[in-house]
Amino acid sequence: MIIRTAKPSDIPSSEITSESAWINRRKFLGASAGIGAASLFGMSRLDAAGARLDPESGDPIPQELEPNTWEEITSYNNFYEFGTGKSDPARRAHTLVTAPWTIRVDGLCNNPGEYQLEDFIKPSTIEDRVYRFRCVEAWAMVIPWRGFPLVDVINRAEPNSSARYVAFETLWDPEQMPERMWRPRIDWPYREGLRLDEALHPLAFMVNGLYGKELPNQNGAPLRLIVPWKYGFKSIKSIVRMTFTEDEPPTTWATQTPSEYGFYSNVNPDVKHPRWSQAREKRIESGRLLGYRWQETHFLNGYAEEVAHLYEGMDLEKHF
Ligand code: MTE
Repeated sequence: MIIRTAKPSDIPSSEITSESAWINRRKFLGASAGIGAASLFGMSRLDAAGARLDPESGDPIPQELEPNTWEEITSYNNFYEFGTGKSDPARRAHTLVTAPWTIRVDGLCNNPGEYQLEDFIKPSTIEDRVYRFRCVEAWAMVIPWRGFPLVDVINRAEPNSSARYVAFETLWDPEQMPERMWRPRIDWPYREGLRLDEALHPLAFMVNGLYGKELPNQNGAPLRLIVPWKYGFKSIKSIVRMTFTEDEPPTTWATQTPSEYGFYSNVNPDVKHPRWSQAREKRIESGRLLGYRWQETHFLNGYAEEVAHLYEGMDLEKHF
């Protein structure tokens, strides 16, 4: 199992590590065992050699599942509204104003509405989840997100019987998003979408935090989507609107370059990008000489057991 979910209610209070203790322990182990994060919210143990152990099975956690560091996750980003360089979002996204923040829910549903962010989140139980993250550009990380299942907000919206998809939209405000070069080439706002059964899958996650802290702007504050079995561009940032539709909604990259990016974008080592192979991926590791380490790509990013049934009978090369 690659997902590890920690509901506060699942962890005995004696085992919840305070943030400062957690950071201190992380520092200590980071120095002694050379790993980025020692314990996820106080849940995992160490064996005699200092390797982290899976809290459920007691087995050592493979190196490729160790979370990336806060610094790696927040300094190597894609958020083209703030520039196309990997370090642009960290340098520029401070101009994004995330409070107050309104989210509109509309389209084919019985409960449309406009919500303040706090009211949108409040009814859900917040969880910490460690997911693999795989960008279509063939780089990968492991990230401890904080958030709540997307299914919560969908159930509250009550999509009606003709709704088959859900579309998402990012804020678009050129005053707050200073990148100019891309403007003629991308039809902003950034748009994404999922088939409704994909969106209802319990792994689809609305994220408002990282490493137990508030989500930084460059990672899509104040609220983004994470769909861990799909390429990262499906994980739309800074969401202001969700719309239920009958037809497949237009999405940014599939509209801009349809020969390279599809609506489904499921991670698949066997379906190459027209310009590069997807069989391997670069795990970002800033401590390394090149800043990454090569590893195999997993079908559906390692979540096949959970989600492969969604695509039974589909030609995955055609619906890439
Ligand atoms: N959302 C918006 N609004 N704009 C973007 O440019 N980039 C996507 C996705 N969501 C993007 C976006 C891509 S290509 C990736 S790989 C991930 O965000 C990157 O998320 P991260 O920066 O948190 O790693």
